[in-house]
Parts: sequence; C-alpha cells; structure tokens
Amino acid sequence: MAQPPPDVEGDDCLPEYRHLFCPDLLRDQVAFITGGGSGIGFRIAEVFMRHGCHTVIASRSLPRVLTAAKKLAAATGRRCLPLSVDVRDAPGVMAAVDQALQEFGKVDILVNCAAGNFLCPAGALSFNAFKTVIDIDTIGTFNVSRVLYEKVFQNRGGVIVNITATLGLRGQVLQVHAGSAKAAVDAMTRHLAVEWGPRHVRVNSLAPGPISGTEGLRRLGGPQAGRSTSVPAIPLQRLGNKTEVAHSALYLASSLSSYVTGAMLVVDGGAWLTLPNQARGQVDSAPLAKL
Ligand code: HXC
Ligand code: NAP
Repeated sequence: MAQPPPDVEGDDCLPEYRHLFCPDLLRDQVAFITGGGSGIGFRIAEVFMRHGCHTVIASRSLPRVLTAAKKLAAATGRRCLPLSVDVRDAPGVMAAVDQALQEFGKVDILVNCAAGNFLCPAGALSFNAFKTVIDIDTIGTFNVSRVLYEKVFQNRGGVIVNITATLGLRGQVLQVHAGSAKAAVDAMTRHLAVEWGPRHVRVNSLAPGPISGTEGLRRLGGPQAGRSTSVPAIPLQRLGNKTEVAHSALYLASSLSSYVTGAMLVVDGGAWLTLPNQARGQVDSAPLAKL
C-alpha cells in the first residue's frame, strides 16, 4: 500500500511537495476558505495554491490569517488574501466576500472549514455552549454559502466543499453539539446540491477522521493524542494527515469530480466503522457523572 504523503505538525507549509495531480489543476481559480489560517484549512489552502489557485483565508483572528497568508504565498508563489471574519456575523461575511471580489474579481470555490469544538457531556453543556457550536459550524456554513451563492455562484456556477465529521453517524459521547452541527451541515450539503445543481453549483461534504497535527485532535484525543500515528483500532491502522485531507478536498473542488454532487466523502481510514469511543476515557470523573 502507498505510504501517506509527508506532512508537518504545525501550521507551516510542506518543505517539499510532490504533485500527484496535475500541477495546474486549479490554475488561476480563486478559493475562499474559512478557517484557512490553521490546521486542515491551512493545508487545504496550501495544496490548492500548489495547484495554481489563489486563495482567500478567513477567520476571526487577523494575526493568525496574516501570518498564514505570508507563509502560503512565499511557499507557493500564488496570491493569498487574509481576512478577519466571524462566520456567525452575516454582514461581516458579506463585507469579506466583497473584499475578495475586489481583490480577485471572482470566487470559484468555497471551502467551509471553520468550526468550534470541545468535549462536554450533554448534561453539563450550557445552552449557550450548544448554540455556539451550532452557530459556528452550521449557521456559519449557511451564511458563507448563501452570500457566495447570491453574489457569485448563482450566475457563474461554483463548487462548495463542506468540512464535516463522522461523529453523528454512530453517535458519540461528549459530542452532541458538534455531531448535531456537522450532521446538519451534511443535510445542508444535500439540500443545496439539489437546489443549486441547475445553476452549476456542486456541493459536497468531506468528513475527516482523526487527523494528526490539528487542534481537533488535540482537543478530542487528550494529552496523548498524536504522540504516535499508529492506531490499531482503525482499519488503516493509523491517524490521517492534513495533506491527505487536502488531496481529497482538491478532488472535490476540481473538475476531477465534475459529476459528483450531494455526496459525503469520508476520509478516515475506515475509523468510524470500528473506532471505540476514545473520548470517554479522556475526561475526568466529575462531568462523566452527569452522563
Ligand atoms: C464546555 C464550553 C467549553 C468547554 C466553551 N464553552 N468551551 N463548555 N466545555 N470546553 C462554553 C462557554 O462556557 C460558553 O457558554 C459557550 O461555550 C461559548 O463560549 P465562548 O468562549 O464565549 O465562545 P467563543 O469565543 O465563540 O469560542 C468558540 C469555542 C472555542 C468553540 C468555544 O473553543 C473556539 O473558538 N474554538 C475554535 C477552534 C476549535 O474549536 N478548533 C477545533 C475544531 S475541531 P456559557 O453558557 O458559559 O456562556 C472539530 C473536530 C470535529 O471540530 C470532529 C473530530 C473527530
Ligand atoms: P482548527 O485549526 O482549530 O480549525 C478551525 C478554524 O476555524 C480555525 O482556523 C479558527 O480560526 C476558525 N474559526 C473558528 N471559529 C470561527 C468563526 N466563528 N468564524 C470564522 N472562523 C472561525 O481545527 P482543525 O482540527 O484543523 O479543524 C478544521 C476542520 O476539520 C473543522 O471543520 C473540523 O470540524 C474538521 N474536522 C477536524 C478533525 C480533526 O481530526 N482535526 C476531524 C474531523 C473534522 P480563528 O480562531 O482565527 O477564528
């Protein structure tokens, strides 16, 4: 079996990159990537740029996206516009899309990658904590999709890739907020694919499993997370890496998947089928008592 492509732990570009796809697969296209300043979103931006794409990376922290944009442009030679935006704030999203259009004149691809998550038993989760995750993941995804559709995609077509998760497929403890939020996004993927297909907009979900070098793994996997990439309980026996997720996002964003819409691509080495509920062991006994 092929070795996984190389990756690095932090939010840095790959020191070397070997193209598996055609290097000009996304040549002169423009991708708007929420959460593009860190983790999986950062690597998606890098891999898209290494295939000729310009990017807009948008998240709340301006220093984070500024730093990331410098690294991305330096490593790839493509343009990257960093924008501070909270996806929960619809007027802010409209302004950010206008800035992107001013800079590039178009947007071809949207990757909804911004998300928030933490471990918490449902019985101890505050009402506002549940709402916060739904607001970021679900409503944020709708806000950005809706604004880009109205301003760009309805007239010239486009591609949307929603980064979701497999949490809700089987149900998982301590994750009712994130599992519900991502399941709603997967439903949104199918609804928008059906409704916007005639306007030449493809909409798909990409659901990663446990991915090394990410905030998600640090938060959900506990202190030992990522120390080793070997995980015998996963059919492919290991964690995934950010480059592998980015390659799948590249497939969904590019013309390689021109007849794929309304689908959910699970990129998890088979983990959701077999992985025991690791999260339960990572919390102290006090909140567990409320389960
Ligand atoms: C319980 C928590 C909590 C925690 C926050 N809250 N953290 N409750 N356990 N660890 C509660 C707060 O008390 C508050 O409720 C409410 O949530 C909102 O908190 P704020 O801090 O005001 O929210 P905000 O500043 O908007 O920050 C959002 C956030 C934060 C989600 C809470 O962690 C964040 O910014 N996260 C972004 C980065 C991130 O999460 N990355 C990982 C994505 S990984 P009260 O009632 O007190 O007002 C991922 C993996 C999916 O999604 C699947 C993996 C397999
Ligand atoms: P991450 O680095 O924390 O990515 C989340 C990004 O979202 C951050 O860049 C954050 O930047 C941004 N963000 C959060 N709230 C926002 C808001 N309100 N408005 C705009 N941007 C916001 O975590 P990650 O682990 O790489 O996760 C990336 C995606 O993959 C998420 O959708 C996650 O659910 C999904 N996922 C991850 C894993 C995994 O193993 N890591 C598994 C399954 C799914 P700011 O703080 O600057 O806003």
